[in-house]
Amino acid sequence: MRYLTVALTKGRLADKTMQIFEKAGITCEGIDDKNTRKLIFVNEELKMRFFLAKGPDVPTYVEYGAADIGITGKDTIMEEGRNIYEVLDLDIGKCRMCVCGPDSAKDLLSHYEQIRVATKYPKIAKDYFYNKKRQTVEIIKLNGSIELSPIVGLSEVIVDIVETGSTLKENGLKVLEEICPLSARMVVNQVSMRMENERITRIIKSLEKAVREND
Ligand code: PRP
Repeated sequence: MRYLTVALTKGRLADKTMQIFEKAGITCEGIDDKNTRKLIFVNEELKMRFFLAKGPDVPTYVEYGAADIGITGKDTIMEEGRNIYEVLDLDIGKCRMCVCGPDSAKDLLSHYEQIRVATKYPKIAKDYFYNKKRQTVEIIKLNGSIELSPIVGLSEVIVDIVETGSTLKENGLKVLEEICPLSARMVVNQVSMRMENERITRIIKSLEKAVREND
């Protein structure tokens, strides 16, 4: 039996993901050790290996088959647009992709004006403004602290993730439009899905049950 490799997203999502895996009977000793610099963790009994990667890299590992399975946010999956199967909603890391800005920017979204939109998600922003709203905008790619942009005058609005809404509130910004709900998803390599169908289907079923019990 060959090892099945699972790519997990580093950070906030990792702990919650491992909790669901454990409920499903899939454990991985050492992966929650914050002091280790080790990158890959093995469960010999289940013939599975796990590694932690940056969110946007997870779909890449899965598309190329370096990981059979990946767990990452729907935002990342949409933005990366890789050829992978999305098979399960883990119902954790729930948040929303939104257009945000000061109250005064609301009018700019309905008058088809050329505005600037700052975001870490240019593909999602482009798809929303060009295809859904049919509004021509200039997209500016940033890498973090997106809420700064309208405050310092880099853009009129932003496209970003809103979880509790406190970052917006503390910076005098609001949700102006909601693009879509987000949560963590399980993705699978297309060849692995065929070659290891039985094992992967079993994993999906146990995770599905664990997700239901989590509610
Ligand atoms: C994310 C997101 C928002 C914030 C939303 O940023 O980009 O800034 O969380 O959360 P809230 O609604 O609960 O306040 P993250 O902390 O990942 O860092 P970043 O700004 O560097 O992207």
